[in-house]
Amino acid sequence: MSNDQQVHTAENRDVEQPVERTAIPKSRAFTDYIGSGWADRPRTLPPLRPLAAAAAERRAALSSRHTGKRLVIAAGDPKVRSNDTDYPYRAHSAFSWLTAWGADTVAGAVLVFEPTGDGHDVTLYFPPAAGRDTDEFYANAAIGEFWVGPRPTVDEVGAELGLATKPLAEFTAGDADVTLDDTDLERDLSEARLVKDDEEVAELRAAVAATKQGFDDVLAALPRIVEHERGERVLEGVFFTRARSEGNELGYDTIAAAGPHACILHWTRNDGPVVPGDLVLMDAGVEMPSLYTADITRTFPVNGSFSPVQREIYEAVREAADAAFAIVRPGIVFREVHEAAMAVIAEKVRGWGLPKIDPSVLEGLEGQAHRRYMVHGTSHHLGLDVHDCAQARKEFYIDGVVEAGMVFTIEPGLYFQPDDLTVPEEFRGIGVRIEDDVLVTADGYENLSAGIPRTADEVEAWLAERAKA
Ligand code: GLY
Ligand code: MN
Ligand code: MN
Repeated sequence: MSNDQQVHTAENRDVEQPVERTAIPKSRAFTDYIGSGWADRPRTLPPLRPLAAAAAERRAALSSRHTGKRLVIAAGDPKVRSNDTDYPYRAHSAFSWLTAWGADTVAGAVLVFEPTGDGHDVTLYFPPAAGRDTDEFYANAAIGEFWVGPRPTVDEVGAELGLATKPLAEFTAGDADVTLDDTDLERDLSEARLVKDDEEVAELRAAVAATKQGFDDVLAALPRIVEHERGERVLEGVFFTRARSEGNELGYDTIAAAGPHACILHWTRNDGPVVPGDLVLMDAGVEMPSLYTADITRTFPVNGSFSPVQREIYEAVREAADAAFAIVRPGIVFREVHEAAMAVIAEKVRGWGLPKIDPSVLEGLEGQAHRRYMVHGTSHHLGLDVHDCAQARKEFYIDGVVEAGMVFTIEPGLYFQPDDLTVPEEFRGIGVRIEDDVLVTADGYENLSAGIPRTADEVEAWLAERAKA
């Protein structure tokens, strides 16, 4: 399908297209004809969205931090995948955090804080539903109603989000605007999002529950996954099918890493087989319509039971995770979570006599030789983004003091590359990661993903149970 009038780019969605591939009549008679004969649409205003009240509080707090400045927070434009095909649209997380407009955000929307004496007037601009008196609805393949569906009116969005709304055509950018491209504003909004409120925690709980359903489906589908020469892709598809069946999206590309692929930290090509006798590392997270996402990893034996060496490595990682959980409470420094996990990883690796290298070389490694087998960090904040609040300053993130309401992952791992000559042959090609999503409470923590089996024994029981499903 293509139309004959507009080319479909993120930068300019109204440019003349050089080649006509369809021939919509352009006569005045035709435009009059197609623009008439349409029934009036009864428009009932939607109720205020539950997340809108919290967004209003966030806007008020942002306003008080930036008195006198004009702030412009754009949702962003669609991104071209190739030619006239875009990636699925996804609003900037800071925009969604301030508006409660999630997966249904109209592309190109802009939230503007106009300074007043002691605060700001806040207005949300977006391209609203086009009338039948324009040719957009039938002739614009990028945003026309006949092509991609209707858009809401300014009144509808205003009622649902509790915001003043205006057509995007009335928005003018100013030279002195502070925008999301501005490092200070990005940083401010990242830091403001570090502590989650109750509404956000509820969304994250829902994302974790939806993710568990996907993992359950994958385990039940293992015979079909094993049968296919690209079993990793079937696995990815089973998880995605469950997410879509529940009306959800993914927060990031699923990592479906079987056998030695588990040693590749972000393996998303997912084109390999899933072979009995191997482990599968599955790292996947459902993103809710509010855009909050889970980030969960489980590693499980394809044939239902861990071999002795797989179990030993798996349980070492599980112990490292447990050691990290054990210290989580308000008042610790975020980096201590990583240090707690790494202390166990280092001890386990030493216990296996690794790495097998000249002791004189080992001395120069400052006790960090074990990092060869786990090069990533143990924890990152989680929320609207899988790697949430990434623009926060070091002193608030890795060196920041942990507070109640923060949500982060605990995800140690051990990865023995298939060609690593420093490890025993039976270790090679085994990769294990266990990743949970943790809420910091007033006096400790709650593992939001505790309902997804974690220990080697629990995982084997889970596989046996799902095999009967
Ligand atoms: N899913 C990417 C990560 O665990 O950070
Ligand atoms: Mn993670
Ligand atoms: Mn992950």
